[in-house]
Amino acid sequence: MIYPSRPTWTEIDLSALRHNLQQVLSLCSFGERVLAVVKADAYGHGAVPVTRALQSFDIHDFAVATLEEALELRHAGIADNLLVLGSCYPGQEGAFLQYNLMPTLLDMETALRLNAEAVRQQQQLKVHLKVDSGMGRVGFLPLQLQESLSQLRQLNGLVIEGFMSHLACADDLNSTVTTDQQTQFRMMLQMVREAGIEPREIHLNNSAGLSGWKSPECTLSRPGIMLYGGLPGPDFSAKLDLQPVMHLRSCIAQLRQLPAGSGVSYGHCYQAQNDMQVAVLPIGYADGYNRLFSNCGQGILRGQKIPVVGRVCMDWIMLDVSQISGVAVGDCVTLLGSADGLSITGDMWAEQLDTISYEVFCRIGNRVPRRYQHE
Ligand SMILES: Cc1ncc(COP(=O)(O)O)c(C=O)c1O
Repeated sequence: MIYPSRPTWTEIDLSALRHNLQQVLSLCSFGERVLAVVKADAYGHGAVPVTRALQSFDIHDFAVATLEEALELRHAGIADNLLVLGSCYPGQEGAFLQYNLMPTLLDMETALRLNAEAVRQQQQLKVHLKVDSGMGRVGFLPLQLQESLSQLRQLNGLVIEGFMSHLACADDLNSTVTTDQQTQFRMMLQMVREAGIEPREIHLNNSAGLSGWKSPECTLSRPGIMLYGGLPGPDFSAKLDLQPVMHLRSCIAQLRQLPAGSGVSYGHCYQAQNDMQVAVLPIGYADGYNRLFSNCGQGILRGQKIPVVGRVCMDWIMLDVSQISGVAVGDCVTLLGSADGLSITGDMWAEQLDTISYEVFCRIGNRVPRRYQHE
């Protein structure tokens, strides 16, 4: 028996994904392909359906963060190029070979482990060599690279298919860090080539890099957030024409008439100044509707924006609908995304929550079903 679920869901608009991909493609250099970042369940949008949609838009290179994420795609029948951006941890080597997954090579120890397994199985594994050009996180630093190159070249079980790095400050168009990183990247690529290694794929740019900086030597770019309609940073709002892919909606479960002076929700941190009408929606912080929206979130209902009143609970929120005529139980309220020509974007949430839209999308909870539109 399948029961109807509570009326809270996200709509994932695949035509908006296509639109955003076109924006991405318009920024790519001639010959540069898109390595779509679909890690973290495609930033909360659903890795398998998003990857399938991107395949239908002729994208055939994908990146995830973990072996588990890669296996989810493989088990769903996705056979395209798959790069795992995280490391290959001890014991995972065989799975990378079995499922034809490309690990990101972050250090020599991992290279030796992967090589040993590949040689043992009389196979070769394609890997992407990651250098730290200034991100200060993972990958070979210039000196480590120099010390490792001759050994790397002798690892017959590995094919250095890609050479990559990651940008730290590309979202700030005035920062000089990115130009310094580009210089380091080119310098390290030169070292690799001089050691006799010629990677087929070269990539550096994330969404911000692609939107604001040119890296003509690259064969791939690695956009994530732009595909999902989030800005890579505030500097890009005028430059980019993106559409939200995720819309979070919930229907009114109860309408309540409250007399002036009533308290609403935990702690009574909201008190009705006048008689008012409150709508209760079956969604809460367990669904990714952040508790920081207590008394300051907004929803779109019948062409108007309405305020959240009282504390956000684990499973419920309350909105003031006193100004909305004809409001009824079952009316749909949009909390993220757009409706009736109005929008509440991931970037708006991010500003209010002092975070980035990436986190907003990733935190929409698992118990909120994703419904796909325009498949
Ligand atoms: C290594 C790497 N490349 C590319 C991306 C995509 O970045 P963005 O979503 O800013 O385009 C990420 C995301 O965090 C990443 O970690």
